Amino acid sequence: MDIQRVGVIGCGLMGSGIAQCAAEAGCQVWVKEANEAFLTKGLARIHGAWDRAVTKGKVTPEQRQAWAANLQGTLSFDDLAPCDLLVEAIPENLDLKLRTFAELDRVAAPGALLCSNTSSLSVAQMGPALAPERLPRLAGLHFFNPVPMMPLVEVIRTLATSEETLSDLRAFVQKLGKTAVLAPDAPGFIVNRLLIPYLLDAIRCAEQGLSSVEDIDTGMKLGCGHPMGPLHLADFVGLDTMQSVSEVLFDAFGEPRFKAPSLLRQLVAAGRFGRKSGSGFYRWEGEKRAEALPL
Ligand code: CAA
Ligand code: NAD
Repeated sequence: MDIQRVGVIGCGLMGSGIAQCAAEAGCQVWVKEANEAFLTKGLARIHGAWDRAVTKGKVTPEQRQAWAANLQGTLSFDDLAPCDLLVEAIPENLDLKLRTFAELDRVAAPGALLCSNTSSLSVAQMGPALAPERLPRLAGLHFFNPVPMMPLVEVIRTLATSEETLSDLRAFVQKLGKTAVLAPDAPGFIVNRLLIPYLLDAIRCAEQGLSSVEDIDTGMKLGCGHPMGPLHLADFVGLDTMQSVSEVLFDAFGEPRFKAPSLLRQLVAAGRFGRKSGSGFYRWEGEKRAEALPL
């Protein structure tokens, strides 16, 4: 299948990036949000990125216009009916995702590919929301943040995912100019199984007063050549998402290294979700990181 019409559910951090990349690759994209305010915010993020690309002289205004013409926002699942591929990118909560897959089961064309961008949940767990004949077309399509910059996508196969689905998804990832790796439907897949304990350990270091937030980040950035320090990256991922992911991983493996530190829970309880809410380990001015905040 040559995937030309793509539906993205959720236009937050990840959904907006997925919709942006698919529109840039020449697909017709419908992005569905929960309400008008979130849709406006998500679409503004995409258009803002395109405006910056024009300002920097990376694309022409005509190219930008062509991308914009490929993108439509909606609040209705019904508008996703023509899509060849549907990618769910709503919050990391199984009940919410099951409700979304039930809606996709209702509206999707027969043979449409149904994917989740979940960071940690089992993709197979979405199955009960779908008619049995759809299961060979269900898979994980795990993008990385920020989607427009990160070249990897994990393609996750369940025991029911067909070979045809995997090859369609690999071709789609290639069409986006990204690299696919095949990952098992095991908690955290490949990357988060390794990355999340590292980020949680850094939060434990901050909690125990090992050093300041800035020095922990500078240490790992300059000492190990990482593009960002771990607390900066945790803010970037979203501390609410970090907490949900660590709960799933701890539940699955029972190992203390996957357990959400109390500091993470306290920050989330205080509404400090990281970049998306304007404060986390750092204060954020929109996309820009400002000073570290008191813990
Ligand atoms: N969205 C889109 N583009 C962005 C961006 C964002 N949020 N932030 C920066 N960029 C772009 C900039 O516009 C710039 O583009 P140009 O070169 O075209 O001008 C480019 O990225 C470089 O930006 P900067 O010079 O400002 O910053 P940088 O060199 O530090 O790069 C970065 C930014 C790519 C985000 C880099 O810091 C990085 O790779 N960080 C690590 C990200 C990472 O590890 N992501 C994985 C998170 S885990 C995950 O996603 C899985 C999960 O399930 C939780
Ligand atoms: P986010 O909170 O930024 O965005 C989620 C969006 O989904 C919100 O805008 C919300 O309004 C919307 N939404 C909720 N219910 C909806 C519905 N019924 N229909 C349409 N939209 C709805 O979250 P995010 O960081 O983009 O994460 C989304 C998914 O991607 C999660 O499963 C997360 O684990 C995964 N993920 C996150 C990252 C990351 O770094 N943040 C990386 C890879 C994967």
